[in-house]
Amino acid sequence: MADYLPPDYLVPELALSFRLQPNATQVTAVSQVTRNGEHNRALVLDGEQQQIQQVLVNGENVDYLQQEGKLTIENVPTAFELTIVTEINPAANSSLEGLYMSDGAYCTQCEAEGFRRITFFPDRPDVLTRYQVRIEAPKAFPFLLSNGNKVEEGELDGDWHYACWQDPFPKPSYLFALVAGDFDLLEDSFTTKTGRDVKLQVFVDKGNLNKSHHAMASLKKAMAWDESRFDLEYDLDIYMIVAVDFFNMGAMENKGLNVFNTKYVLADEQTATDDDFHGIESVIGHEYFHNWTGNRVTCRDWFQLSLKEGLTVFRDQEFSSDVGSRAVNRIHAIKVIKNQQFAEDAGPMSHPIRPEEVIEMNNFYTVTVYNKGAEVIRMMHTLLGEAGFQAGMKLYFERHDGQAVTCDDFVQAMQDASGKDLSQFRRWYNQAGTPELTVTDNYDADAGVYRLQVAQSTPQRANEQQKLPQHIPFSVELLDNDGNSLVNQLLEVTDAEQTFEFNLNAAPVASLLQDFSAPVKLHYQYATSQLLVLMRYASSEVARWEASVALFSQAVWQNVARLQQSQSMSLDSSVIDAFRAVVLDASQDHALSAEMLKFPSTAALIEQVEKVDVDALLSARDFVIDAIADGCEDELLARYRELTSLDNAASRSFKNAMLQLLARSADGNEALLQAQYDSASGMTDALGALSAAVAGNAECRDELLVQFGERWQDTPLVMDKWFMLQASVDEDDVIDRITALQQHPAFSFNNPNRVRSLLGAFAALNLSQYHRADGAGYQFLTDIIKKLNSVNPQVAARIMTPLIQFGKFDDARQALLKGCLQQLLDLPELSRDVYEKASKALAM
Ligand code: TRP
Ligand code: ZN
Repeated sequence: MADYLPPDYLVPELALSFRLQPNATQVTAVSQVTRNGEHNRALVLDGEQQQIQQVLVNGENVDYLQQEGKLTIENVPTAFELTIVTEINPAANSSLEGLYMSDGAYCTQCEAEGFRRITFFPDRPDVLTRYQVRIEAPKAFPFLLSNGNKVEEGELDGDWHYACWQDPFPKPSYLFALVAGDFDLLEDSFTTKTGRDVKLQVFVDKGNLNKSHHAMASLKKAMAWDESRFDLEYDLDIYMIVAVDFFNMGAMENKGLNVFNTKYVLADEQTATDDDFHGIESVIGHEYFHNWTGNRVTCRDWFQLSLKEGLTVFRDQEFSSDVGSRAVNRIHAIKVIKNQQFAEDAGPMSHPIRPEEVIEMNNFYTVTVYNKGAEVIRMMHTLLGEAGFQAGMKLYFERHDGQAVTCDDFVQAMQDASGKDLSQFRRWYNQAGTPELTVTDNYDADAGVYRLQVAQSTPQRANEQQKLPQHIPFSVELLDNDGNSLVNQLLEVTDAEQTFEFNLNAAPVASLLQDFSAPVKLHYQYATSQLLVLMRYASSEVARWEASVALFSQAVWQNVARLQQSQSMSLDSSVIDAFRAVVLDASQDHALSAEMLKFPSTAALIEQVEKVDVDALLSARDFVIDAIADGCEDELLARYRELTSLDNAASRSFKNAMLQLLARSADGNEALLQAQYDSASGMTDALGALSAAVAGNAECRDELLVQFGERWQDTPLVMDKWFMLQASVDEDDVIDRITALQQHPAFSFNNPNRVRSLLGAFAALNLSQYHRADGAGYQFLTDIIKKLNSVNPQVAARIMTPLIQFGKFDDARQALLKGCLQQLLDLPELSRDVYEKASKALAM
């Protein structure tokens, strides 16, 4: 980042034409180039995986040098027309970056640096260009799409046709998109608050029109929400969404032409769960919100990625919270930080939300940049309040609309508009690692004063600059022992050590870091009795959930200790009673009750400690869940039966969380699993029964898996759920099962959704088999990454995470994991993506 220099040349206008053929697509790029500033440096363009046919400056052939992904032309005029004709091979492109084919359709993915696989260009986000695009293709591809507005179309010889598009907004190359194919089309419209009529189009694979309605409804909701909450309106006459099955990530915000993974578009009740419906709404929102936070104001360079991603995740979270349950959405966001981001921050890929050094940019689309980035925005919102924050947003757009800017520019706008000093707060952008807050307290009965002593520190690594105290919004509620709220206050922690005093008549119970008011690790010794009070009475529903997580976790760690001392495991009846109360509670939101009964995953528990004995942890967690399930079985059965008739997502969630427990109780409740599976009216309940059967190793598990696999063999997104369950079966032969499933007709090694659901899920979800002491799980994942390294490096690097986060495991497992990483480093044609992660992990 410190090496940033403004571009030597700008390209205000680009005319791009494509003649689409699977193995030989011709691309003609006519750029209007202008020198930026006074210099006589050469023009240097980025470009990869293309055959050059012609390079002209003002219509004349010129000498050029092509090497290592760059094209250099010396002695160019101050302003000129540059014509470059190249040929590319979309059918052979399995990396899904640049122009590629998905199920017979052409599509593009340019973020971050994929445009350089389409033509030679200054492929960096601070070069803003007005695009004119012409697409020529056989009529077998009836829809020819690109950014902006369609300005012309017509017939060509030999059953070909063409379309021309013009995007009036200058944009960076990463927002370019092209799609050509045959689709079913759902159309609708939206009238903005100033009366602009916008045509809305959702393109899906033929036969899927009936699964596109939720996506369209979500888009209209998102457009209305951005107007009402952020006063932001759409700016073109058309908004298109295309769903493709081959896609590396969730979706892409290309100007006016979003490209989506089918997973975030297609849904009906038969094939999608309530969670899928929710995911679609949130990703549709996310990409739509990028139109302002990302597209109208974009990033100066890729180190600033969180400028658009952290802010847009914050916006999509607020959208979901305003149109759904705020508490449940907050719980989901907290889980991502605690279970995934904390692990990233403690591992070899630790980086600040604004990284300073990058080997492969694709490796930095991370939970740190996205989700911790959103937490940093959320902290500003907490410190400034909604009005101050919105004033900051308004100033940000007034200053920077149409520009490529930095995270500093954003914080400056927030500070200037609100008057709040954010100078210390800026450290969140450059310090990696998770700050730890250690809180102690005491009550001075004579003075009637309760004191909270707060100490903060951030783990320091050898090669890092010194970590300074952060500006931490610290939200606290104090309750008496009967659960009455005494104090509810936002404290600001800014020093390494600080004491806060409260005048109280007795020692309170403290609910600390309410709603996870900052992305930090909190250390405070809660007594079980205090957790029981908070779980029942904390004003914040999120705080009640946090207390339930802490209560469960305490019980697990106590039993890990017992196992390590060869004692027998046990569970205090007060813990069982507390969860029984959750089951019986008639007034609590069912979705929140469900969250309290979905106990922390093994991965979440691992994040709570420095070193972990995996075998003991797996046994202790199973023991505690089984003990709760056994202890509450009667109440679970009764509540389960009460809820079966309720037809809403929250109740289904509660019911299915209870079914997971019922499948694990001593009785096993096979008949109940079977009955729910057979009578399920939609995917949520069918999958609820099936996943309970898998998690509980039920007798009916394999039979149900066979039935489900046959029923859905032709529906890829449902098969993903099936592959995921197959990969999480806790049996010693699961690796053989997964190996066999790679031959299943519904599986494809070239499709990232399939790879993630069968192969990625194994390492991420099947912890007991992945961490087998013989290393077979590690080796299995390694062999997959070796193969993926050449097929799709982005996906290879993404599913590698469980190989590199080895710091907490025992020496024997660490040695096995390091051996695997060394095998990867020894690969003959190692991608930058895999190289960066493997080498950083081995250097730890
Ligand atoms: N900008 C996209 C988003 O957050 C992310 C994305 C989609 C992406 N596809 C990608 C990033 C491919 C890197 C590579 O919505
Ligand atoms: Zn995004």
